[in-house]
Amino acid sequence: MKLYTIFGNPVGHSKSPLIHNAVFSKYSKDARYIRTLVNSGEELKKVWKELEISGASVTVPHKETAFQLADEVRGVAKDIGAVNCLVREGDKIVAYNTDGDGFLYSIVDWCIKKVLVIGAGGTAKAVIHSFLKEGFKVSIVNRSEKRLEDFKELPIDIFTWENFEVSSFDLILNVTSAGLNDDFLPMPKEILEKLFQKGRYVADAIYKETPFLKLAKKHELETRDGSMMLVYQGVLANYLFLKGKVSKDEIRERMLEVF
Ligand SMILES: NC(=O)c1ccc[n+]([C@@H]2O[C@H](COP(=O)([O-])OP(=O)(O)OC[C@H]3O[C@@H](n4cnc5c(N)ncnc54)[C@H](OP(=O)(O)O)[C@@H]3O)[C@@H](O)[C@H]2O)c1
Repeated sequence: MKLYTIFGNPVGHSKSPLIHNAVFSKYSKDARYIRTLVNSGEELKKVWKELEISGASVTVPHKETAFQLADEVRGVAKDIGAVNCLVREGDKIVAYNTDGDGFLYSIVDWCIKKVLVIGAGGTAKAVIHSFLKEGFKVSIVNRSEKRLEDFKELPIDIFTWENFEVSSFDLILNVTSAGLNDDFLPMPKEILEKLFQKGRYVADAIYKETPFLKLAKKHELETRDGSMMLVYQGVLANYLFLKGKVSKDEIRERMLEVF
């Protein structure tokens, strides 16, 4: 039996087992995907070794730690500095990042040129990388200053809540964890309301209706939660888990059947 898992904290809410097991039950019957709550990089590595994990998804708050502990980092993850997917190659942990392209596929039908990203964690790094590759004009705003340091080299506009100036954006995206396990908005309500008056599309990486999305709906904006991002980043990860033996189209179809 090949064992796959999601590493994170929390992981109880995760739908990753649902979508990955759907693919395994059809195309790789000797594989199973479980949830593993870990509190640190050391714990993650210990479980990886002891259970001989074949591949893993990595979620909040371990994406940057997983980048550090991987034996090899491939593709865009090298520029991002955070990973969401680990694959065993012999004794090596090989790491990738599928979040940015996963999100991009999830909004492929939206016409976007100018984006505001709220939040400055690992997911923000991934989506901004994909946005810049697409030629979007990007701004980032975060609650505090420290994490914004990581974005200083990029050709984007950088703000904290304090110095943020409201202007119009085609897409306003929440990639903070506000609303994941609480009722917080990712920015003060009065700023969001001004933004929504000038906005067009609003998306959240969290895959449920957050207070942020509810507020955007009140302003009659087109909204999308992170469900399709989850599926598409999962398609790219599962393709790596199965080492390309099943096509991305087949993986996507199977995941969408159960989601
Ligand atoms: N749908 C999907 O497939 C998918 C994929 C990836 C991620 N996600 C979701 O994306 C979110 C971010 O993930 P991540 O890995 O980037 O997390 P992370 O690295 O932990 O980043 C956290 C960010 O959220 C901000 N934040 C946390 N609580 C906040 C609050 N109450 N108000 C305002 N800002 C707050 C932090 O600001 P400070 O710097 O000020 O602390 C920081 O910028 C998570 O909710 C995750 O579930 C979804």
